[in-house]
Amino acid sequence: MANLKRWVLRRRPTGEIQPGDLELVEEQVRDLADGEVLVRTLYLSLDPTNRIWMSDQDQYMPPVQIGDTMRGGSIGVVERSRSDRFKQGDVVNTGLGGWTSHVIANGGMLMPTPQLPGVPLTAYMSVLGATGLTAWFGMCDIGKPQAGETVVVSAAAGAVGSIAGQIAKLKGARVIGIAGGKAKCDWLTGELGFDGAIDYKSEDVGAALDRLCPNGIDVNFENVGGDIMDAVFNRMNNYSRMPLCGMISTYNDDSRPSGPTDFSRTLMHRITIRGFIVTDFLPRAGEAMAELIPWVMEGKLKWKVHVDQGLEGAMESLQRLFTGAHDGKLLIQVSPEP
Ligand SMILES: NC(=O)c1ccc[n+]([C@@H]2O[C@H](COP(=O)([O-])OP(=O)(O)OC[C@H]3O[C@@H](n4cnc5c(N)ncnc54)[C@H](OP(=O)(O)O)[C@@H]3O)[C@@H](O)[C@H]2O)c1
Repeated sequence: MANLKRWVLRRRPTGEIQPGDLELVEEQVRDLADGEVLVRTLYLSLDPTNRIWMSDQDQYMPPVQIGDTMRGGSIGVVERSRSDRFKQGDVVNTGLGGWTSHVIANGGMLMPTPQLPGVPLTAYMSVLGATGLTAWFGMCDIGKPQAGETVVVSAAAGAVGSIAGQIAKLKGARVIGIAGGKAKCDWLTGELGFDGAIDYKSEDVGAALDRLCPNGIDVNFENVGGDIMDAVFNRMNNYSRMPLCGMISTYNDDSRPSGPTDFSRTLMHRITIRGFIVTDFLPRAGEAMAELIPWVMEGKLKWKVHVDQGLEGAMESLQRLFTGAHDGKLLIQVSPEP
């Protein structure tokens, strides 16, 4: 039996994560107690919120404690079981099993991973996992785009943004994406059917929004915060909606992130801003899946995954989310699929 490897938080990062903030430790796999299951991790999800969880700041769940295994979502395969619910070879969702090669958990804490014909396992870590749920609830429950309305999505070529923008298209809206670089912008307009894309790395975002959204903006699916959020916010229409999904431009910044520069626009234009966290919506996941699964099966919803190999590189891989050096939902393949 191979040893268990796991990343432990040793120090709270200041700014970008540095070597020494986390440490990879190795230990023997312990024996299972009654009801427990040993799961070999297949795929680990790397998410912008991992950086938030490393900080001792006001947030939506407690930060990871120093000395604890780094938190993260994963799926894996059952290697040993002392639970009636699972047998060897079952593929399971560990919830927040962590940055670890193996998870030992009570069988009651694990969920079987659905396996639809022709759908790869990685889809359950992206379009048919938390990523898809985030995009669906943010867009459909909060953004509520109507046919003909203008929707802007930031980090639009990323995991959540690319799904959110396509959902708005499926609902009949005009969709403009903001992304970094020509290749990502070309993918949005060429393959995903976005009506326009803005390369924030080479264009003036405000001027491009004026050109591409002549009638203003009805929904801002906000993923980035900072100057990009401000440029979009300043062009939002009366009764427009802003699902505040994320503010990734601020996660490595220890100073307090700023809001829109002209907050009074919220009042003058009767804008609804709602921050949301996908976990709040998990009891309603079935509503989202009732649309997401058919869209996936009918090829109406496209997605990409960026899979790095090996738990050892997790710290370096996480940085991709902050530089954009990834193409699709960022995952680590920790061990081979069964
Ligand atoms: N509320 C929730 O429950 C929930 C759940 C999941 C994710 N989120 C949020 O959704 C957002 C996207 O997450 P994701 O998992 O889908 O990751 P992702 O979009 O696949 O990756 C992050 C992307 O953010 C962009 N980015 C990073 N730093 C930036 C900066 N300073 N300025 C502009 N763009 C920047 C980069 O895109 P470019 O290459 O285009 O620059 C990067 O590829 C994040 O804010 C995340 O926290 C929220």
